[in-house]
Amino acid sequence: MNLNLNGKVAIVTGASKGIGAGIAKQLAKEGVKVVVNYASGESDADKVVGEILSEGGIALAIKADVTSASDVKRLFEKAHGTFGRIDILVNNAGIFKFGPIESVTEDVFKNQFNINVWGPVLTTQEALKYFPATGGNIVNISSSASQNPTANGSIYAATKAALDAMTVALSRELAIRNIRVNTIAPGPTVTEGVKEMGVLGTDAEQYMINATPMGRLGQPDDIASVVVFIVSDAAGWVTGDRIKASGGLQ
Ligand SMILES: NC(=O)c1ccc[n+]([C@@H]2O[C@H](COP(=O)([O-])OP(=O)(O)OC[C@H]3O[C@@H](n4cnc5c(N)ncnc54)[C@H](OP(=O)(O)O)[C@@H]3O)[C@@H](O)[C@H]2O)c1
Repeated sequence: MNLNLNGKVAIVTGASKGIGAGIAKQLAKEGVKVVVNYASGESDADKVVGEILSEGGIALAIKADVTSASDVKRLFEKAHGTFGRIDILVNNAGIFKFGPIESVTEDVFKNQFNINVWGPVLTTQEALKYFPATGGNIVNISSSASQNPTANGSIYAATKAALDAMTVALSRELAIRNIRVNTIAPGPTVTEGVKEMGVLGTDAEQYMINATPMGRLGQPDDIASVVVFIVSDAAGWVTGDRIKASGGLQ
């Protein structure tokens, strides 16, 4: 299978931890030069870059808050200035806050929409200035929750449903420029963010495992390999799609 990824350049947002770190590492293994974006986790981002470099890959950590237009502009300028091209954008940075509807404040609402939806708007706008005339690739990391929302996850699910809708619209808008836009929708995955929620080792973890036909939670690599496929030439005829990577969880 010809992936044709060697020498391409990718920006992976929120790559200092979890799924984003897994995506950055797997892309680097395929010869992609990777920008490991982060908001505050400098040492985590440096660790991801260090691992990539130690395996012979090429990577650079760049701090930028995806909700800030000036940060995103600088992220792309620095990435392009360093590597000379940008071919792939993975909109992975995201937050998830769960709680009953009564607990949703304006801040909780706006923060999730800001990072999960406005962030990808800003990065996509910037990517379009840099993608080569031959085309490009955008992957939005959604969630199984966008089509199968859980109780206490109304706002998070709404942000990811918005991202799914944006994916389809943009795939139609950008196809003429040979830019493919797809969504990968992970099921529950073991990451720093999920660990912080404190669900691992509780009944909630067992509930998620029971709901997953393959009988375990996902790992970042389970998601990353699907991203590698979707941005590769092997998936050259796939755009506007949403692929679940969830062990069968709907
Ligand atoms: N884990 C799951 O079960 C699961 C399931 C479905 C979908 N997802 C989606 O997968 C993506 C990654 O989730 P995860 O579990 O890997 O998360 P995580 O472990 O909490 O890591 C989140 C990453 O996003 C970065 N980030 C947060 N806010 C940012 C901002 N404003 N600008 C730039 N980067 C920012 C963080 O960087 P810093 O640490 O530097 O701030 C970190 O690198 C999210 O979009 C999430 O919704 C996760």
